[in-house]
Amino acid sequence: MKCSVCGQRAQVEVRRRNQAFCAEHYRDWFVGEVRRNLRRHRMIRPGDRVLAAVSGGKDSLVLWDTLTRLGYEVTGFHINLGIGDYSRRALETTRAFAAERGLELVVVDVRESFGLTIPQLAWATGRAACSGCGLTKRYLMNRVAQDEGFNVVATGHNLDDEAATLLGNVSHWQTDALVRQGPMLEGREGLARRVKPLYSLTEREVAAYAFLAGIKYQHEECPHAAGAKSLLYKEVLGRMETRMPGTKQVFLEQYLKKIKPVLKSGLPETEVELKRCERCGQITTGRVCAHCKLWERAYTRAKKRGLLPEDASFDPRPVVKRV
Ligand code: AMP
Ligand code: FES
Ligand code: ZN
Ligand code: ZN
Repeated sequence: MKCSVCGQRAQVEVRRRNQAFCAEHYRDWFVGEVRRNLRRHRMIRPGDRVLAAVSGGKDSLVLWDTLTRLGYEVTGFHINLGIGDYSRRALETTRAFAAERGLELVVVDVRESFGLTIPQLAWATGRAACSGCGLTKRYLMNRVAQDEGFNVVATGHNLDDEAATLLGNVSHWQTDALVRQGPMLEGREGLARRVKPLYSLTEREVAAYAFLAGIKYQHEECPHAAGAKSLLYKEVLGRMETRMPGTKQVFLEQYLKKIKPVLKSGLPETEVELKRCERCGQITTGRVCAHCKLWERAYTRAKKRGLLPEDASFDPRPVVKRV
């Protein structure tokens, strides 16, 4: 197989595009795709201040790498979830990446900020670790962006993530989630713009880029991920992709282009009134936001079970550290 650009021996095949590349031209192709996504959806605009949420895994480190290569000044944001050795290694990997490249990184430790780790939060609330974890991560991304003066939050979601989310939303006809799903969610007062510059690139393509760009990332998955529904959706889509290359891309892109606009215009306008949470001051639809509610509940249970002292009270202000 030969490189579609220079004719030298190819190292990576992109089957869904019927193209193959040598190492150098693969990196160019990949960064070019990211640039195209940024432009097509006007994800980053002049004067924006961008925070990249980095877990230490390949997607978010590749995200940070490509945005930096494209000339954007992007600060990294890592959340230490307190999931044993997995979180310790995630922080180490992220720090090493930032230090090697002289990039600015801010870190929030969930336990230091809120008093419990994610596994302790799960235990206290009796809910799966991933649900409290997802809520806390989303809260922190938006809140830290606000507090630290960033108006855009970039995440490393790739095509496999987005196609799997779409399949999950379609399987249950979750129309609210369906109309919100997309590579860019516009910001507003109190809410940072959310962008996913890697949304059109498959997990395999991201991994190939990480390898060829010499990025050292954390390979292990979160121990709580086993059995997650998203993995089943990915497996199903993966099997379809093997038989019919391009399935994931068509499934997602055609949804965004053809179906989402129709769905949006057909659904009743649900402009909900946004208020400020009475506990933390963040934007919410209720009196108290979902994050504060969850943590308040966790505190009550954790005190009963002796995990927290009787006089402990939940403080929603995150402790932000620059490293
Ligand atoms: P996940 O929900 O784990 O698939 O992660 C989706 C995206 O969320 C990643 O690509 C990151 O951009 C971000 N993310 C996940 N975990 C963390 C973390 N611990 N700290 C900062 N960002 C994260
Ligand atoms: Fe959140 Fe696994 S429970 S990353
Ligand atoms: Zn080439
Ligand atoms: Zn709140």
